[in-house]
Amino acid sequence: MTEQLAVGKELRLVVLISGGGSNLQSFIDACANGSLEGQVAAVISNKAGVKGLDRAAAADIPNIAIDHRAFDSREDFEQNLGELIESFAPDLVVLAGFMRILTAQFVNRFLGKLINIHPSLLPAYPGLHTHQRAIDAGDKKAGATVHFVTPELDGGPSVLQAQVPVLPNDSADSLAERVLRFEHKIYPAAAQWFCEGRLRMENGLAVLDGKVLSENGVIFNESAEQ
Ligand code: GAR
Repeated sequence: MTEQLAVGKELRLVVLISGGGSNLQSFIDACANGSLEGQVAAVISNKAGVKGLDRAAAADIPNIAIDHRAFDSREDFEQNLGELIESFAPDLVVLAGFMRILTAQFVNRFLGKLINIHPSLLPAYPGLHTHQRAIDAGDKKAGATVHFVTPELDGGPSVLQAQVPVLPNDSADSLAERVLRFEHKIYPAAAQWFCEGRLRMENGLAVLDGKVLSENGVIFNESAEQ
């Protein structure tokens, strides 16, 4: 069943992080300048003391660390995490560098309103070390993809993808830096589509303006920022 969003009201976003939170910052900035018509209702990190929590505090956003190591099992952690998320009544849950694998039970709890950004041209390179893998394979292009989260790791339907060139002398770090600049554009842009009621997940597929998206999603160009 597709949950109807009350389009017109400002949607509430809960952002999950594990680290620096530069993507979180792009959401905070986009909400502040009006290009993202939503509000970051809370930021939750599975690690204490990370920069992303400071970014949230600086923007007066409730910020909470919930350390997964304090729980006996993944399920126990996720049960508590899920309740914490729901206490902020989110319309959309945004994984922004949240580096925990999520069980099907957790994903299904938020199915259709759980999105992620992954630093590869999905469906290529799910998992870790994406930039090094792209360089090792001799790929000419790398990038990042916003996708709905489904129980399959990095396997949910793609929404918006930024493609950047791999340069001859690239290291994983230099490529990551180039890709990250585009992550900051595509992630809030995709969230805005959701907030406008244009984007949803239906039968495991990403649907934008009533059309099913291709396996890469929309390929980013500057007009996607609108
Ligand atoms: C980003 O590059 C994001 O794509 C990646 O972690 C980084 C977080 O940076 N996410 C994943 O690898 C998820 N599998 P940030 O904390 O500065 O936003």
